[in-house]
Amino acid sequence: MSAATRSSNDPLIHHWMPFTANRQFHEQPRMITRAEGVYYYNTRGEKLLDGSSGLYCIPLGHGRREIREAVAKQMEELDYAPPFQYGVPTAFRLATEVAQMLPEGINRVFFGGSGSEAADTALKMALAYHRARGEAQRVRLIGRERGYHGVNLGGMSVGGMMPNRKAFSTGLPGVSHLRHTHIKENYFQMGEGEHGADLADDLERFVNLHGPDTIAACIVEPIAGSTGILVPPKGYLKRLREICTKHGILLIFDEVITGFGRTGEAFASQTFGVTPDIITMAKALTNGSIPMAAVAVKDEIQQAIFEAAPENGIELFHGYTYSAHPAACAAGLATLKIYREEGIFDRVKSLTPAFLEQVGSFKDVEGVVDTRGHGLLGAVELAPKGKPGERGFKILCKAFERGLVLRAAGDSMVLAPPFAATPDQISEMLDILRKLIQES
Ligand SMILES: Cc1ncc(COP(=O)(O)O)c(C=O)c1O
Repeated sequence: MSAATRSSNDPLIHHWMPFTANRQFHEQPRMITRAEGVYYYNTRGEKLLDGSSGLYCIPLGHGRREIREAVAKQMEELDYAPPFQYGVPTAFRLATEVAQMLPEGINRVFFGGSGSEAADTALKMALAYHRARGEAQRVRLIGRERGYHGVNLGGMSVGGMMPNRKAFSTGLPGVSHLRHTHIKENYFQMGEGEHGADLADDLERFVNLHGPDTIAACIVEPIAGSTGILVPPKGYLKRLREICTKHGILLIFDEVITGFGRTGEAFASQTFGVTPDIITMAKALTNGSIPMAAVAVKDEIQQAIFEAAPENGIELFHGYTYSAHPAACAAGLATLKIYREEGIFDRVKSLTPAFLEQVGSFKDVEGVVDTRGHGLLGAVELAPKGKPGERGFKILCKAFERGLVLRAAGDSMVLAPPFAATPDQISEMLDILRKLIQES
């Protein structure tokens, strides 16, 4: 039955699913009804391994009691308070704890509800900062091809994923994109590639073309996640940092996926030893349990914006009804406590070598054109069969029948195991994937 002719009594018809082939889903629903630890359960009660930590957001696994209890307690005490002109203690505690985990100097934290909100907030903060310092002409934003910064207008505009942009016909003006860093010379290299640091010089070219005093910010994911785990070449992020510093451009790292341990340190900026001016984060901040995001900035950015505002006046006309929602703050505090007390980021470090070695071993599987990864993020790219992305999607659907939930970025099969997974569970995920690729 086509979507148009489905009956309005059809239980699936009213929910318009995000980033989903809705009509295909109606024909072949992949329903998840329960989850525990690193497993989901389907409608028949069968187990499925969570190979992608949800959407990279639930690294501790599902159903952590401490988080659930903290949220329930908070909801009993205070379910909501307006975040504009009023505060809740948990929000201040969470901001302090996040600041303590961030690279030195990045210590002012603004909360939102999603990674998309964080990206747009960061871009707006960059514009506000320059204006506050008398450089209101700095409005140009630089993103990167194959970047993903969510779906709101700002993030979409600096993002570099064609289907996400094309359908909407327009975006912000004054945006340029660096070239992406997925270059042939680095294929099959696990970790940072040897080649391509000079791709960062694209930023210098935009400076030469538009003038250094026109560019507000450059935003990149340290590791591009949604387009299939594109690891930066050695020295690339450092070079971007140098060019930004030289020309007064704010460097924003979108750490919505990499934040909170994915690369073995709290933030990828620490893993790569490069400190941006602004970091966005979301997902693993609450272990995916309650929507929450944050934007952290250097204190001098906040200070410039504060100083430009009238005394006792609102400094930044920006915020969300659900900024610092008490339930999300409680979930965040409980999550960070587990990261700390259970040494979770060290666990990532210990799981990483075997994981990356196994992902790299797909090199020998027929039809594999690249393998790449860093930390507990890995991708196996396949030669397309049929239209681009068709093979990847078929494997995703088959994987669901074989007990594995994973991500497909086009024809790149992406694994991002929960940090709570055992080495055996990670091997099982990779074994299922290997068989599916061989059969595809
Ligand atoms: C790097 C990055 N930025 C922003 C987002 C958007 O986050 P959300 O879906 O919570 O809006 C994502 C989501 O995957 C992401 O990976």
